Amino acid sequence: MTTFESPATDQRFPLRRSCPFAPPPEYVALRAAGPLARMTLPSGRSAWVVTRFDEVQQVLADPRISADVTHPGYPQLTPEPDPEGEKVLPGEFFKMDQPEHGRYRRMLIPEFSVKRIKALRPGIQAMIDRLLDDMLANGAPADLAAAFALPVPSLGICQLLGIPYADHEFFQPRIRSRKMVTYEDVQVAIAEVLAYTDKAVSRAEEQPGDNLIGRMVTGRRATGELSHDELVGMVYQLLIAAHETTANMIQLGTLTLVRHPDQLAELRADPARWPNAVDELLRYHAIADGPTFARTAVADIDIGAETIRAGDAVFALCASANHDERAFDRPGDFDIHRNARKHLGFGYGAHQCLGQNLARAWLEIALETLFRRVPTLRPAIEIDDLPFKYDAAIFGLDEFPVTW
Ligand code: HEM
Repeated sequence: MTTFESPATDQRFPLRRSCPFAPPPEYVALRAAGPLARMTLPSGRSAWVVTRFDEVQQVLADPRISADVTHPGYPQLTPEPDPEGEKVLPGEFFKMDQPEHGRYRRMLIPEFSVKRIKALRPGIQAMIDRLLDDMLANGAPADLAAAFALPVPSLGICQLLGIPYADHEFFQPRIRSRKMVTYEDVQVAIAEVLAYTDKAVSRAEEQPGDNLIGRMVTGRRATGELSHDELVGMVYQLLIAAHETTANMIQLGTLTLVRHPDQLAELRADPARWPNAVDELLRYHAIADGPTFARTAVADIDIGAETIRAGDAVFALCASANHDERAFDRPGDFDIHRNARKHLGFGYGAHQCLGQNLARAWLEIALETLFRRVPTLRPAIEIDDLPFKYDAAIFGLDEFPVTW
């Protein structure tokens, strides 16, 4: 396997955001220069970054682009090789390629269908109302992250999987790796959440309920299609994928709507606008960017005038694609009137977010209910003082003090 060794530019990857409402500013010049650029990873290795909307879609949909973390060319973002980064649990399909990836993903697709999520909406509304009852009863000010934004995915995923909500006190802090200080802390937390997931699957194997884990046990474990460990890996992956992403989007969405009172007033007057507004929030913030979309080319691929060689590292910049002036008019403006549906906030291609229908329902109901029930909601501190996670793989906020 050849790896890409030609000299990189002196531009370092990943680039950092400097404004909470825009991707890294360097993306503008990179997109203007071409659809692909070469950058240098913390290890010193060179990688391709893909910057424009069409080419990002092309790369993420190309079967010659691998998401397999065990591939020898798979790029890591640590200065030294991290053996943990090459590990794949059985069933952890977001780190796999076809055909394994598709085999696991297909088993879960019915759980996230539009119809299934529609049926969950009344339960989601009731859960969100209860969270707001508590937040209002405790009085202002509050940390929107702790009181609302994190409990929405925590409670929601517990309902979906069929695990007791009381357990969120155990797994929520362990999933929030930002709060951990050392590499060892993170590894211990991963092991503990895995052991927890293992127990939850064992319980369901003894007594399957009418929930996702229960249906996997009766429908897939019983037929021998899935092993115990594979189901543990799948469930673990869902727990991790749902939390920070959704919590960050609820907080950033709240902040952005407070900053655009005219558009918020339109949404209050016409709630049918919420679904598109949520897609516009996902486009505008594009919280999952290059580091999430680390890939390896497994064959030569021509893109424009360039050839990505087999073994090369590739990062698809979905935040850049969502702000590509070729795909969206005035991309830097937040505008609930544009048709934002084609955004890449959930990625694209084989690994496009499996939970997107659920995430949309959570975000729509959370934001609509929050602003309906707490119409005077606003940040309790200056926006510049909010703790934005500029160096995290998924952009967002650590805490969000609010008042009303
Ligand atoms: C606003 C919230 C969310 C955002 C922005 C988001 C974003 C993403 C993105 C960008 C990917 C693609 C990663 C890649 O291509 O490497 C992805 C994959 C995935 N997401 Fe989400 N996600 C969200 C919520 C959820 C929820 C609620 C669930 C499940 C309960 C979920 C489950 C998954 C899974 C299982 C994958 C892997 C899919 C695969 O590899 O086939 N996500 N998500």
